Amino acid sequence: MNKMLILYGTETGNSELLAMDAEKIATAKGFDASINGMDEVSTDDLASCGNLLIICSTWGDGEQPDNAIELYDSSVELEDNYLQNVNFAVLALGDTAFDLFCEAGIQWDSILEQKGANRINERIDCDTDYDDYAEEWLEETILIFADKGV
Ligand SMILES: Cc1cc2nc3c(=O)[nH]c(=O)nc-3n(C[C@H](O)[C@H](O)[C@H](O)COP(=O)(O)O)c2cc1C
Repeated sequence: MNKMLILYGTETGNSELLAMDAEKIATAKGFDASINGMDEVSTDDLASCGNLLIICSTWGDGEQPDNAIELYDSSVELEDNYLQNVNFAVLALGDTAFDLFCEAGIQWDSILEQKGANRINERIDCDTDYDDYAEEWLEETILIFADKGV
C-alpha cells in the first residue's frame, strides 16, 4: 500500500482540520496515510515518506506557525537532493488582508523543491473562505499522488 504523510502547520487548528479531511480522502483512495503536526516529525521522516502533503497556515508577518518553525529551519539546512525520493504538494492557508499572503506555504513549496522533492501539483493559496476550493484541490491532488504510484 502506498504511504502518504500529511503534515499540518497550524496555530488555531484550521490546517489540522483540513489535514483530517485529506486523510479521509487519501485512505478512501487506498493510501496508508498518516497525519502529524509538523512538530511531531523529523527531516528523516520527510525523506522516507514517499508522498508528502503539506497543509500550512501563515502567522505573524509572513511567518511559519509555531509548530512548523523547527522543522522548516531544519529543512533549510538539508543537503540538496536530500528529498529526491519524495513527491509533494502544498496547500497554503492565509488571509489576503495580510501583505505576505500565504508566505509560509510558499516557503515550504520552494524549500521542498530546492531539496530535490518532486512537486506533483501546483500549490493552492487559500483565503479565509477556503472550504470548497480546498476540498476540490485535495481531491484532485490525492488522485495525482495515486497516479504517480510511489
Ligand atoms: C495574528 C495573525 C497573523 C496572521 N498573519 C498572516 C500573514 O502574514 N499572512 C497570511 O496570509 N495570513 C495570516 N494570518 C491568517 C491565518 O493564516 C489564517 O487565519 C489561517 O486560516 C489560520 O490557520 P491555522 O488555524 O491552521 O493556523 C494571520 C492571522 C492572525 C490571527
